Parts: sequence; C-alpha cells; structure tokens
Amino acid sequence: MNLYHIQNLEHYFQVYRHSVDQPEQFWEQIAKKNFVWQKPWNTVLNWNSDTAEVRWFEGAQLNITENCIDRHLETRGDKTAILFEPNNPKDPAEHITYKELHTRVCKFANVLKDKGIKKGDRICIYLPMIPELAIAVLACARIGAIHSVVFAGFSATALSTRINDAKCSMVITSDGSFRGSKTIDLKGIVDEALEETPTIENVLVVKRIHSDIMIKEGRDHWVQPLVDAASAHCPIELMDAEDPLFILYTSGSTGKPKGMVHTTAGYMVYSAYTFKNVFQYEEEDIYWCTADIGWITGHSYIVYGPLANGATTVMYEGVPSYPDWGRFWEIVQKHKITQFYTAPTAIRALAKENLEFVEIYNLTSLKVLGTVGEPINEEAWHWYNDNIGKKRSPIVDTWWQTETGGIMISPIPFATPTIPTFATLPLPGIQPALMDEHGKEIEGNQVDGRLCVKFPWPSMARTIWGNHQRYIDTYFSAFAKKYFTGDGAFRDATGYYRITGRVDDVIIVSGHNLGTAPIEDAINEHPAVAESAIVGFPHDIKGNALYGYVILKETGETRNHDNLRKEINQVITEKIGPIAKLDKIQFTIGLPKTRSGKIMRRILRKIAHGESDQLGDISTLLNPEVVEAVIQEAL
Ligand code: WT7
Repeated sequence: MNLYHIQNLEHYFQVYRHSVDQPEQFWEQIAKKNFVWQKPWNTVLNWNSDTAEVRWFEGAQLNITENCIDRHLETRGDKTAILFEPNNPKDPAEHITYKELHTRVCKFANVLKDKGIKKGDRICIYLPMIPELAIAVLACARIGAIHSVVFAGFSATALSTRINDAKCSMVITSDGSFRGSKTIDLKGIVDEALEETPTIENVLVVKRIHSDIMIKEGRDHWVQPLVDAASAHCPIELMDAEDPLFILYTSGSTGKPKGMVHTTAGYMVYSAYTFKNVFQYEEEDIYWCTADIGWITGHSYIVYGPLANGATTVMYEGVPSYPDWGRFWEIVQKHKITQFYTAPTAIRALAKENLEFVEIYNLTSLKVLGTVGEPINEEAWHWYNDNIGKKRSPIVDTWWQTETGGIMISPIPFATPTIPTFATLPLPGIQPALMDEHGKEIEGNQVDGRLCVKFPWPSMARTIWGNHQRYIDTYFSAFAKKYFTGDGAFRDATGYYRITGRVDDVIIVSGHNLGTAPIEDAINEHPAVAESAIVGFPHDIKGNALYGYVILKETGETRNHDNLRKEINQVITEKIGPIAKLDKIQFTIGLPKTRSGKIMRRILRKIAHGESDQLGDISTLLNPEVVEAVIQEAL
C-alpha cells in the first residue's frame, strides 16, 4: 500500500486506520521511503505527556535543504522551483529553476557564514514576498541557523519585541516593498526597531524599490555585492532530527507573542506529506498559495512542503486588488495554476466585486481550490465553488494552526465528499478529540466540544522559545495529556468536523490571529485611556472585526472623540501593526467585571453583536449596574 499518496476514500480510511493503530510504523515507512537522510533514526517517537516533551526520529541526521533542493537537481534541475510574480503586472515573472535556487541558496548561505552566523544562531527575516525571502529562509536552514520570519506588515515595536525574545543577531530586510500602488519603507521600520535591540550585529539589505535609505556603517550591508562575491559551494550542515528549524511568533490570549519552535525532521516529513495529499500534487502542476511567507501557511505550503515534493511554487508579491480585482485570476490564467490556496477573507473581498473580473479569464487549468485561516461561511464557499472552481474543482477547507505546523483536518480532493463549512476528516496520523467542560472526552457523533488532539504528530511545535512552562500551560493543561487547540468544533453524524471558532480570547481578523491582551496593552498606552477591552464582532469581509470598549481617565474628556479614535488606532498601528486596528470604539463609563475582577467579555461580545437582549444572568457581576449604561452607549 502506498502510504505517501492517498488515492480514494477507501484508501484514505485504510491509511487512516493504519496511522492510528500503528502510528510509529506508519510515519517510519513514510519517512524512510520519501526523504534523504544522512543517518537513520534510533526511535521513531519519544513522548512524555507529563512534561509535554516530544521527539520524532531521534538519532537521525539530515538537512531539509538537501531534501528540498539538492536531491531534485539530477531529475528536476531545469524545472521551475519558484515562480515569482511581481507586484507590477508589466514586470516579467521570474522562473527560478532548482539549479538556480541551489546556487542562490548556497551563495546566500555563504554570506551568512562570512558574517559569522553559525548553527543555532537566530536570524530575523523581515522581507516582502520576493524570491530573496524564500532564499534567505533556505540559506538559514542550510547552515543550521534558526530563522524567525516576521511578517513585513508588523510595526517596529512588534519587530523589536520578536527580535529581543529570540535574541537574534542578524536582520535580513529590504530597502522597501511594493504593495499595489504604494511603497513601504521597510528599512525605516527596521532602523526604528533596532534602536532597542542590543543583540543585532548585522543587517543585510536587499535592494527592491531603489529608495534612498540610511546605511549604518559597520552594521548594514547591501546583500547583492556580497552574494556576487560569495562561493556557490556550500555543504549542508548536519542537523539532528530535533534541532530547531525555525521560530514563528503567534499571538496568545495573554502576554507577549509566543515563539513557536518547529524542529527539523518531523516538520519536514509532515509538511511534505500533507502538501502531496491535500493538494493531490502531480509532477506537472503549478501550485499557488497566496499567503505571505511571514505566516505558517507560507512556511509550510509555499516553501518547505512544495519544494520537498519537487513542485513549482508561485510567490506573488502584490495584493488581490492591484491593478484591479481581476489580478488573481489573471495570474491563474497566465501561469496555468492547477492548485490555488487562499483565505476566506480574500474570497469574500473578491466576491464583492463585479463578476466580470473573473469571467474574462480562463480558469480551466484549476484542479483543486483551498482555503485556510478561519471558518469559511457558506456564501463564500458557494461563490468560490461556482465561479472559480466551476463546480469541477474540489474545495479543501484546511484547518490547522501555527502550532500544528501542517494541515490537520481537511478533505482529500477527489476522495472526501465535501460539505460547505466542514473541514471534514482528520488527516492520517491526526487523532482529534472533542472535550466537554469537565475535561471528559465526548464520544459519538452530532456533538459539540473543545477541539483537542490526543496523540502527537510529527510537525507539532515542540515548545515556546525560552519558556517551556508556558507551552505546557497553554496547550497541555486544560485537558490532561491532550493538546488543546483553543478552537471549538462540531462533529456531525458522519464524523465530519466543522470548526466553530476560537473559544479563548484570540480573535481571527481577516485570517490573522490576534490576541486581545496585546491590543488592550497598546490602547492603554494612550495617555487619555484608563482601561480597555476588545471583543470581535461579525464583519462581511474580515470575518471578524475588532470592537473596543475604552474607559477614559477623565470622564469629562472634552476632546473630539473621533480624533481620539484615530489616535487610539494610531497607537495600535505603532505597537502592533495596521491589521490590529479597531473598526469600532465605544467610550464607556465602565466594564462589566466578575467578583474576582475579570472583565466579562461574554457580555461585551453580546453587546457588540447587537444581542444585548440575550445577556443571561448578570446578577453575579461585581458591578451589574454598568451593563445598562454600556448597552445605552453601544454603537
Ligand atoms: C487559527 C490558527 C494555519 C494557518 C493560518 C492560521 C483558525 C485556521 C481554519 C479553518 C476554521 C480555521 C482557527 C485556528 N483556522 N484554519 N479551515 N476553519 N478555522 O494560523 O494564525 O495560527 O491561526 O485559525 O481558529 O485555531 P494561525
């Protein structure tokens, strides 16, 4: 039985059963047959559920770039590995072959070495969606440096927080970026961030927009001359299976962002395996994921998963609306895209526009459509299915997380019958469980519960950088010996899963994971603000938008409130980034609290949703009297 490639529903059920009955044997067979190892493992899985320590393929040695690049050189050297589509449609697309990718990664890796970077060092990458982003990521992996990619839409403060948490010694950035008709001064943001980052020694700068930037002597270096001078020969660093490959930050419901640590072997095996199956990838396909490499989707399904399969992966620099709302479909037609993977928020935005933007393009190359990042609503699902897939291309609604490293619950195209809004069935190796409030697993079907995973899988994050206790507390303490996802889910009569949304204080806005606490902290830094609370409310395009309740220090605040709203959003933009801006701000005289002083977000959520007639019992509150006032002020 070919475990690596699932071909139909019956095969899926067989493979799935095997993966649950004999997980170690299952993953061992996949690992052995489909990857290059410098040294085999001694044990497939080591799992201590008390300390939440997990190790896959212990004893093995490998390098992920040998698997993603070198091993393809002989058979696919002239095949396009990365197809770069620039922001401006008039600029030519760039086809980077596996051979060219190899040369460029090796040269870049030698530049890093020349600057003193060694195995285990952390490197922050803050780049737009240009080939150098993927190349820098792979160059780090080649020499064993741990990359920490920070999405280039984050602010200087968010960037410096992440650099300091991981104690990065280098930043790789560009002079700026193109985003639709705008340019963004990335280097300016980096300069501001670096005022507070004592560990940074060097900054490598890619020239993209040819702007006039500050070069700090001794610290900042243009990349191109260094790459030109570097040798194209760079042997792989031997990595242990559990050596960290990268850190990627995600917001939590409290505290500072969590640096999720992913390690080498398990992550490679799982991202490659799921890429192959969830997209039913075939040798001649041209695969396009519209995410940014700054998120986990880009790590696993633009860079590592596709390249490990020798695929052609598209990187698009721009936005869906530039030069007009037909751009995505123009790209699909131009490059004959076969798999297209995007977010529900993008689908909703595209669906709002004139259908002509779709109809003038030939989309017949498409075979599989994917979505990720948040629950997809039925209307958006049908629009995608009818107008993009023309009811011929199955939609894979893929549920997963930064922490899971790879797709966990998803249909297998042409095998799993799809139902709108259902992520359907767990992938092989994934054992979901629904839990009730008392910590008991809910058996049977037609049930709702908190979504957990009860057995380790190869690409799970191993820890939070520098804080294993927080990892245990966040993921392994709510339900004994199980990984808790933070999501709620429903299991229907056939065993299909539908993700119902977060059950904690994380809000998904346009597919971006935002914790309430850091935004509240940012708002509270405004001198006029005493206290604040954030909740989500439904939004047509973003899925959720943010609603802020803000208590001002001076109740008789005379300043123009609209100005104050702008200032508050300005502070959020500076501290976190524009993605965390609030859509609505209600100035309020108080916030409902429990007797122990915790803000009752449930009540604030109801009010923001316009459901203040369904608050339930509020008599146990510390201050039930403020509720009426908050309702009266509501926007
Ligand atoms: C959260 C994780 C995984 C890459 C992008 C997001 C939500 C993700 C789905 C889906 C319903 C989804 C969950 C999850 N989510 N995919 N198909 N259906 N919800 O990664 O930023 O770590 O966010 O996104 O709430 O917990 P992330």
